[in-house]
Amino acid sequence: MDTQRSLIVSVALLLFAIVALLLLTVHVDEIQEPPQYMYGIVLDAGSSHTTVYVYRWLADKQNGTGVVTQYSECKVKGGGISSYAGQQGAAGRSLEACLKQTMVDIPPTRHNLTPVYLGATAGMRLLNISSPEKSMQVLQDVAETIKSFPFKYQGARILSGKEEGAYGWVTVNYLQENFIKYGFAGRWRNADRDTFGALDLGGASTQITFVSNDEIEDSENSMTLRLYGQNYYLYTHSYLCYGQNEVLRRLLAHLLTTQDITGIVHHPCYPSDHSETLNMQQVFESPCVTSQRPALYNTQASVIIQGTGNYQHCLGNITEIFSFQNCPFSQCSFDGVFQPNISGRFMAFSAFFYTRSFLKGSTGIAIRTPGHLRQAAQAVCNLTLVKMSKDFPEQKSYLRDYCAVSVYIQVLMLRGYGFDDHSLPGVYFQKLAGDGDTALGWSLGYMLSISSLIPEETVNVRRALNPGAWISLMFLLAILISTMLLIIIFQVSRKKRSNV
Ligand SMILES: *[C@@H]1O[C@H](CO)[C@@H](O)[C@H](O)[C@H]1NC(C)=O
Ligand SMILES: *[C@@H]1O[C@H](CO)[C@@H](O)[C@H](O)[C@H]1NC(C)=O
Ligand SMILES: *[C@@H]1O[C@H](CO)[C@@H](O)[C@H](O)[C@H]1NC(C)=O
Ligand SMILES: *[C@@H]1O[C@H](CO)[C@@H](O)[C@H](O)[C@H]1NC(C)=O
Ligand SMILES: *[C@@H]1O[C@H](CO)[C@@H](O)[C@H](O)[C@H]1NC(C)=O
Repeated sequence: MDTQRSLIVSVALLLFAIVALLLLTVHVDEIQEPPQYMYGIVLDAGSSHTTVYVYRWLADKQNGTGVVTQYSECKVKGGGISSYAGQQGAAGRSLEACLKQTMVDIPPTRHNLTPVYLGATAGMRLLNISSPEKSMQVLQDVAETIKSFPFKYQGARILSGKEEGAYGWVTVNYLQENFIKYGFAGRWRNADRDTFGALDLGGASTQITFVSNDEIEDSENSMTLRLYGQNYYLYTHSYLCYGQNEVLRRLLAHLLTTQDITGIVHHPCYPSDHSETLNMQQVFESPCVTSQRPALYNTQASVIIQGTGNYQHCLGNITEIFSFQNCPFSQCSFDGVFQPNISGRFMAFSAFFYTRSFLKGSTGIAIRTPGHLRQAAQAVCNLTLVKMSKDFPEQKSYLRDYCAVSVYIQVLMLRGYGFDDHSLPGVYFQKLAGDGDTALGWSLGYMLSISSLIPEETVNVRRALNPGAWISLMFLLAILISTMLLIIIFQVSRKKRSNV
């Protein structure tokens, strides 16, 4: 009886010690109070709109050991900053309401400690091609506005396509905790996990980025990132003019230049109950359609476009927007761009996510295989505008284009990138990731990379408790565990012996 009681006590103490040890390594963080946060602001100036993101992290958890999450976001009303080209001051003014909102979101004592970055992407890359002066003017405008707020201004610039792809990849893998994890021993350690590739579909460009073990034949597509003491060899490419809005425009230009525009122009990707009148200049003003622009055309002329909702014709015309010939490398995706074979799992966000959601909602098909994707695109191209408007009234302005965008994604992913029955199931369509509902995109990765929030070398920092106290506690608990184990072994063997 006595033996049994002391055995129970020993086991209880042993359990207590183990639990205490676990708590010590896992929960130390939450005990600390009160939390002091640091904030950072990134303005994601896309081609069709700007979003202002506020991120935050614990003040004593800088240099890569804290978790940065999204705190708030504000969608700027109106178009992207490039749409204000030639209107002095307008681009800057468009940002004011959201910047005022961030003044409210972030505690006043933190304002002057908060870095603010503006990154512009493909919309401004295009403007810089068609009019470098206007793009400079727009950037100066937005810079002036941002500087008039009490934050720490860190620049307003146009990101290269390579940067946009790589930072999107950093965001995905940071939020998946694929770089470092908080380990059992009270230290951060490399996670030793496979990374996810990143697929981003914006308004004016689309990016693909992944770690590849194959040789990258074009140095334009290779990028090495050193994060937490580890090198990552990335393949990345940004396809300018392959964002969804520019693809829709190029499709229109293609239809206008291959059909007789004096009559009604048939649009095989528009719903069959949709027609509209279109101004020629709207189509041909972008640098993405220079090669298709007729030498002579009346900019004020308008044409009548009639939808036909014909999947096969839509697929045929969209395929013609890509070029699958002329590859100067051992293999290409399209347009002569080198791409190694797809490898690993992927996270597909922005318009990939929205389109996939609509396909699921409207056709009931969840895309996992190439067959699903073809089937869903076919079904959505067969829907009338009346039917879609009835089921999705809140998406009214996008409904006309879902067939074209779905077919475009089908051609891009299957024929262009080469996703197949084996690799497509490894593509996860998501908008947010991480604990804090953080949006996927380049902006978090950009802030992390150019601040000291992701170091190049390994971090070796213990949490909360100071190292002396931590070691003593570990030591005491270790002694407790060993003692209890010895007692248990002793008791059990004594019991065995007495039973014999
Ligand atoms: C982070 O690193 C910088 C220099 O790289 C250093 O000055 C700073 O004290 C570090 N902060 C923390 C919290 O370790
Ligand atoms: C515009 O493009 C040129 C040529 O690629 C580049 O040198 C320049 O830095 C770009 N302008 C901005 C504001 O990024
Ligand atoms: C492109 O669309 C037009 C109009 O619907 C159609 O006549 C033509 O056959 C299509 N082209 C291809 C290659 O499918
Ligand atoms: C890429 O994929 C193709 C077709 O699946 C295969 O024939 C080829 O060997 C692969 N290349 C490499 C480098 O793995
Ligand atoms: C397209 O819709 C019509 C009726 O509106 C239906 O009869 C036909 O089967 C549909 N085709 C596909 C491929 O879904």
